[in-house]
Amino acid sequence: MTSGAEEHGFGIVGTGVIAAMHAAAIATVPRARLAAVTDVAGGAAAAFAAARGCAAEPGLDQLLARPDVDVVCVCVPSGLHAEVGVRAARAGKHLVVEKPIDVTLAAADRLIEAARAAGVALTVISQHRFDPGLIELKRLLGDGALGRLVLAEASTKWYRTQAYYDSAAWRGTWAMDGGSLMNQGIHYVDLLRWCMGPVTEVTAVCATQAHQVEVEDTALAIVRFGSGAVGTILSSTAAYPGFPQRLEITGTDGTVIVEDGRIVRRAFGAQATAGVPGDDAGAVGAGADPAAIEVASHAAQIADLLAAVEEGRAPAVDGQAGRDALEIVRAVYESARTGAPVGLTGS
Ligand SMILES: NC(=O)c1ccc[n+]([C@@H]2O[C@H](COP(=O)([O-])OP(=O)(O)OC[C@H]3O[C@@H](n4cnc5c(N)ncnc54)[C@H](O)[C@@H]3O)[C@@H](O)[C@H]2O)c1
Repeated sequence: MTSGAEEHGFGIVGTGVIAAMHAAAIATVPRARLAAVTDVAGGAAAAFAAARGCAAEPGLDQLLARPDVDVVCVCVPSGLHAEVGVRAARAGKHLVVEKPIDVTLAAADRLIEAARAAGVALTVISQHRFDPGLIELKRLLGDGALGRLVLAEASTKWYRTQAYYDSAAWRGTWAMDGGSLMNQGIHYVDLLRWCMGPVTEVTAVCATQAHQVEVEDTALAIVRFGSGAVGTILSSTAAYPGFPQRLEITGTDGTVIVEDGRIVRRAFGAQATAGVPGDDAGAVGAGADPAAIEVASHAAQIADLLAAVEEGRAPAVDGQAGRDALEIVRAVYESARTGAPVGLTGS
């Protein structure tokens, strides 16, 4: 402990790929300590714990019974987030839930309600909100630098092999994962919603182009925002060899383009026609290790959760924010299924 303030003990449920990021992030957050982990796969938790000097518990009940765990990171497959999160909330633990909040709105609502009823804080991971380019973009939007927003694009053109989908039984299933948009594209869907405000209508096409999976590996949508602006969403895991995630926001006075969390171009007002290249990536260190940046963004979101607990406020990315992103993804799937536009409440 570096000050008189409280130390927070973390437990991680599910010790797969993203759990390593959580452990690395927790290690960098002041007054945060990884106390224990658990996993249903034999030996997985023990190996993870041994490498990080924490305890391995045989099951969720034992992890939740630990008084030295007051925050639980839910890192299990997406379709189990609410199930695990509700149990942790009922045990009085604050929650860091990986994205998506879950794969159905009913499950999301159960989790949000359980956290509310238990009086625990809930944050749903959207680490790219903490990337330097997004922090700067939100500041510019808050200052009105782009004028009235008119157009936005969120694009995730990534590539995943068939071996990726075959690497775990839950991947590429409707019940536990969802497709490219639910798993990969949702990051920039959340950023789009965060920057542009509520979505009121979605018209979409989905396809399974290059993988043997039941879900879509390619999703395209046209969206209307409550503000009157319009936009597009594109997400694919069939775009070889994979490209940076992009967010483009255009207002009457300018445009900002973000790639992988860095502003790569911005042009405003009189400068807009001159096409001034506003690459400010240097602010984060252009040569920085992308993995290090990722840890920093997860760490910033976890630090915000702890600050929210201590200050008695909602986390920056709360359960409703996670639900809002999921609602857009579900609307894309519904529109692609029916071939008709889908209206959202736009709240
Ligand atoms: N924020 C990001 O950038 C990011 C990146 C990758 C994954 N994720 C999210 O993290 C979640 C996990 O993805 P992953 O790639 O780490 O998956 P993974 O398959 O590598 O790991 C999941 C782990 O959970 C364990 N598990 C399954 N059911 C469990 C249960 N009931 N209790 C305890 N453990 C259980 C599995 O045995 C496995 O070890 C997904 O929701 C995914 O969307 C987020």
